[in-house]
Amino acid sequence: MIKSPRGTRDILPSEWTGWERLLRCAEQVAERAGYQRIETPTFEFASLFRHATGEHTDVNREMYVFTDRGGDELTLRPEGTAPVFRAYSEHGMRVLPQPVKLYYLGSMFRYERPQSGRSREHHQFGCEAIGSEDPLLDASMIDLQRRFYASSGITATTIHINSIGDSACRPGYVRELVAYLHRNADRLCGDCRERIERNPLRVLDCKNPACQSVLNEAPKSLDYLCDECREHWERVSAGLRALEIRVEVDARLVRGLDYYTRTVWEFHPPGVQGSQSVLGGGGRYDALAAAIGAPEVPGVGFSTGLERVLLNLPARPETSVAATDVYVAHLGDEAALQALRLAHILLESQLRVQMTFGSRSLKTQLRYAGAAGAALAVLIGEDEIRDGVVTVRDLRTRDQRRVDLAGATREIITQLHQRGSNAP
Ligand code: HAM
Repeated sequence: MIKSPRGTRDILPSEWTGWERLLRCAEQVAERAGYQRIETPTFEFASLFRHATGEHTDVNREMYVFTDRGGDELTLRPEGTAPVFRAYSEHGMRVLPQPVKLYYLGSMFRYERPQSGRSREHHQFGCEAIGSEDPLLDASMIDLQRRFYASSGITATTIHINSIGDSACRPGYVRELVAYLHRNADRLCGDCRERIERNPLRVLDCKNPACQSVLNEAPKSLDYLCDECREHWERVSAGLRALEIRVEVDARLVRGLDYYTRTVWEFHPPGVQGSQSVLGGGGRYDALAAAIGAPEVPGVGFSTGLERVLLNLPARPETSVAATDVYVAHLGDEAALQALRLAHILLESQLRVQMTFGSRSLKTQLRYAGAAGAALAVLIGEDEIRDGVVTVRDLRTRDQRRVDLAGATREIITQLHQRGSNAP
């Protein structure tokens, strides 16, 4: 039998309640702060991410790239920032009041080694504010992300933060870092040594215990910031203090995407460490525009994997029932046709209606009605067909009465109202 591809999973009806709660929570938190929903395509030109995230990044290596029938090189999107930024530039959003504040919810695709909290298709909630360099926007973005976790039920997160400078000061810092790493190469693992020239900042991310002492002593980007970046960093810090948000300055936090400048951060759930434990991260990306050949405009944002949020939420009882007002049961071929018609009429009257498909005993049908959470069952058998009536049964009290087919809808709605339903 063909199964779902490795690293993907079905979200089953029994899980959907939890997902829906989280999606609504994301929408509310974003919209209350003036962020508007944006949907970008699931696939984009691969070059968008090559330029935006950088040639030598994990995200670039893990992309699902394919050539379509027209010969274009496309990729399933591995992340949401570059597409949202592309949309901002492509649709002339510069003329709107700045920053333009956008949020998204959708699948991202990365060919990673699947494990708990890491899959090949995952779902992100992200917010991007494009068009302002204001450091207080960085602080308010961190606050927005914190509020999303808190309102979804995860409090006591730890926030790691750093500034990695900009194109003026970072090259000087990277030179110092590379020199330091070369000097200490014999105390670093093979992966780190290989990365020194290709992607030196990522070396700081290595989790290999053998490398930790060298990396902890490595030069820190904060010590190399130019005046503008330092001023920006201090103002971000002042914003966070004003919001009473406690953060841990983490000199080794660089994030895995090349578009970042200045502020970068990550949220960790209470009590867990390690890269898979990161709930979500973000940062400023004032260099993204230049990387993709768009007119220069600054931006800042975050995104969070929804699977990781769900992993960190206390388990809640699962509910798989789609609430139903009326369940239509029937016995016999003619009654089935009558049931089909009646279910249609009730659905057209905006009620939540289910019926039996296939022939089942009355007992089984009533069991299905109970499982569907129905308040009322309508029973149609040979007698009802002969007399032009239906039997309406209260599934709680088991009271039942026969009503004229013509007046059945009105009677059902009246009975539902008597039970406190908000049926129309
Ligand atoms: P990222 O750190 O690559 O950043 O991903 C953001 C979040 O997506 C991660 O913290 C994690 O929760 C989740 N995530 C990433 N990969 C996987 C995976 N394979 N399986 C499950 N969850 C995963 C970005 O994508 C940036 N676009 C964030 C951003 C927005 N920066 C500025 N604006």
